[in-house]
Amino acid sequence: MTRKACVIGWPISHSRSPIIHGYWLKRYGIEGSYERIPVKPEELPAFFSGLIGQGFAGCNVTLPHKEAAFRTVGTADAATSRLGVVNTVFARDGELWGTSTDGEGFLASLTAGHPGWCAKGQTVVILGAGGATRALVGALIDAGAARLLIANRTRAKAEELQRDFGAKVEPRDWTEAAEILRHANLLINTTSLGMTGQPPLTVDLDNLPKTALVTDIVYTPLETDLLQRAKARGNAIVPGLGMLLHQAVRGFDLWFGTRPEVTEELYDLVARDIDPGYRR
Ligand SMILES: NC(=O)c1ccc[n+]([C@@H]2O[C@H](COP(=O)([O-])OP(=O)(O)OC[C@H]3O[C@@H](n4cnc5c(N)ncnc54)[C@H](OP(=O)(O)O)[C@@H]3O)[C@@H](O)[C@H]2O)c1
Repeated sequence: MTRKACVIGWPISHSRSPIIHGYWLKRYGIEGSYERIPVKPEELPAFFSGLIGQGFAGCNVTLPHKEAAFRTVGTADAATSRLGVVNTVFARDGELWGTSTDGEGFLASLTAGHPGWCAKGQTVVILGAGGATRALVGALIDAGAARLLIANRTRAKAEELQRDFGAKVEPRDWTEAAEILRHANLLINTTSLGMTGQPPLTVDLDNLPKTALVTDIVYTPLETDLLQRAKARGNAIVPGLGMLLHQAVRGFDLWFGTRPEVTEELYDLVARDIDPGYRR
């Protein structure tokens, strides 16, 4: 039987998920398909009502539907209840369930990109408190991080994270960003600064210990200005593309019944789609 999955969003033409799942379907010889489906916000309830009837095993959910999907389908696990968003929907016994795989994708990407890395006891500095930050905060706390210092342009959003995730989260003003770097074992950029078409992230890195690991969840360009500056001063870096690939693993397993591997070949395939000149 051909199994079907898809990614929905509005717009959706930019999504690289079909490349990732298409690669795995071929690699594991699975008879299945994964397509992009544009769904307008007002069409979302009808889309979910018809999903199982159309033979889909589930779907990925991207902007702007992550919160509406959370409210529409069942919540598959406690970690997802705390996030209020889902990025992966799957059918079980005739019902739709939703989960979030961004947090585990982020942690798996760090472990793969910097073998031996472990969150336990770490002080993490996070620049940004937008939609993607919640999943990272939840995953880092669950993995044993000691402190999460979060500087965001809109401080209220960092304070909201403290309310939802507890005292390990310490909100900071955006103007303190450069200063608090001195505490970091791990520095994460979750702002959209540095993304192609956006202004650069200009925070001064002078206070950052050379031993700190630096990562950026922005993956266009593959190596952001932050990662280039960190690398030039001797910090280890992990680019954001790994998170995109690793967050896709559990969805593929839920829909197609095989836990897939994030291979170097897959990384290179998607990296070349982002930057045709990319070479390992
Ligand atoms: N690697 C992956 O798998 C993955 C997954 C999800 C997202 N991402 C990427 O992560 C980035 C953020 O996504 P998101 O969904 O969290 O976006 P979002 O909800 O729009 O949040 C944007 C963040 O950037 C900050 N920001 C924007 N412009 C700024 C400026 N001029 N100065 C200072 N801060 C600024 C915002 O601060 P305010 O709160 O003050 O507005 C907020 O913290 C995007 O580039 C997205 O592509 C990657």
